[in-house]
Amino acid sequence: MTRFYLDADKIPTAWRNVVPELPEPLQPPLHPATKEPVGPDDLAPLFPMGLIAQEVASEPWIDIPGEVLDVLRLWRPTPLVRAERLERALGTPARIYYKDESLSPAGSHKPNTAVAQAYYNAAENVRRLTTETGAGQWGTALAFACRQFDLECKIYMVRASYDQKPYRRILMETWGGEVVPSPVDQPDHPGSLGLAISDAVRDAATRDDSHYSLGSVLNHVLLHQTIIGLEAREQLALAGETTPDVVIASCGGGSNLAGIALPFLADDGVRLVAVEPSSCATLTEGRFDYDFGDTAGMTPLLPMFTLGHDFVPPPIHAGGLRYHGDAPIISNLVKSGRIEAIAYPQGKTFEAAIQFANTEGKIPAPETGHAVRATIDEALAAKESGEERVILFNYSGHGLLDLSAYDDYLHGRLVDA
Ligand SMILES: Cc1ncc(COP(=O)(O)O)c(C=O)c1O
Repeated sequence: MTRFYLDADKIPTAWRNVVPELPEPLQPPLHPATKEPVGPDDLAPLFPMGLIAQEVASEPWIDIPGEVLDVLRLWRPTPLVRAERLERALGTPARIYYKDESLSPAGSHKPNTAVAQAYYNAAENVRRLTTETGAGQWGTALAFACRQFDLECKIYMVRASYDQKPYRRILMETWGGEVVPSPVDQPDHPGSLGLAISDAVRDAATRDDSHYSLGSVLNHVLLHQTIIGLEAREQLALAGETTPDVVIASCGGGSNLAGIALPFLADDGVRLVAVEPSSCATLTEGRFDYDFGDTAGMTPLLPMFTLGHDFVPPPIHAGGLRYHGDAPIISNLVKSGRIEAIAYPQGKTFEAAIQFANTEGKIPAPETGHAVRATIDEALAAKESGEERVILFNYSGHGLLDLSAYDDYLHGRLVDA
């Protein structure tokens, strides 16, 4: 058997909060002007109290509301798949499993938190959410989620993607989202995630009926994604495995890695690996410091690995990994040595993605290609040492709306940044 399913009634009913068990206490976010720790009142113009409470929660489990589960059940639990054909092609004794998050409506892991965020905002009578999106994965997820709870959704999309990649914009509009290119006040600027966050925060902060929504980085976003790893634990048991030897995921702001890895945090001996692009190597080359989440310096200062809030990464295809910072929780765990980090240039990730497509059949998103690359290298290392390693990775999204990137790779136009 190569596919392991959980019954619909086995969907996890609580999220896992690892903040109380971090090796070092998490430093608080600081107010951008006063540099004092931010309190709930500082965050209230942007977020509902339900999410602010999760941001500072200290209990290890937090119940998932029934209304959120009802929407997640449209595609969850997602299958765990053993990549036997890839194993065979590599000639490795490793057993490779992937959690298929590409089956969500938006095609990635992002709706897991988008649905929860839309629910908590709607529950507090917010009428409208604003957000940013790079290549469009997060924007599509939030547009879909807002539709489920009758919220308006305005998405500031990095202009380079808005101009070059119309299909995700069309998805957002199909789900009722309003999409505008960012930066709004500089029509010739190609844009960046940091600038688009500034646009979305400014919009929400200046309207009483609106809140802001972030697709990664913050504690509550990582919390919502733990449903991935919680399901995967159960499914590995169905596959006859105990714990994996290594858990791998691509890391942009950190929620994808957190989702699959944090439910294994307490398991000694399970290696947790973040994979990032060499051209935006936040964890492997950045510094640990307080920094802003956006370019204009409007968000609270977060304790994180950062390349500097004015860093503009080169336009690699993995748009979701082009972020200057990383989640405080992930940064804390990298700093303490519990999470390892590795970086690859994009050419090597496309090579791996194409090997995956030709063995397992599925075409990974460019972000997901980073995890596939690291997985293949782990499996080859196991072959070299003759070890039966169990590898789990998060198949965070499909690449069916990223085919122009594959076209560039296949026809020698990819810049190997
Ligand atoms: C398909 C896919 N995988 C991984 C990531 C990285 O996710 P995170 O920012 O949560 O680390 C993204 C981000 O957009 C993505 O779209």
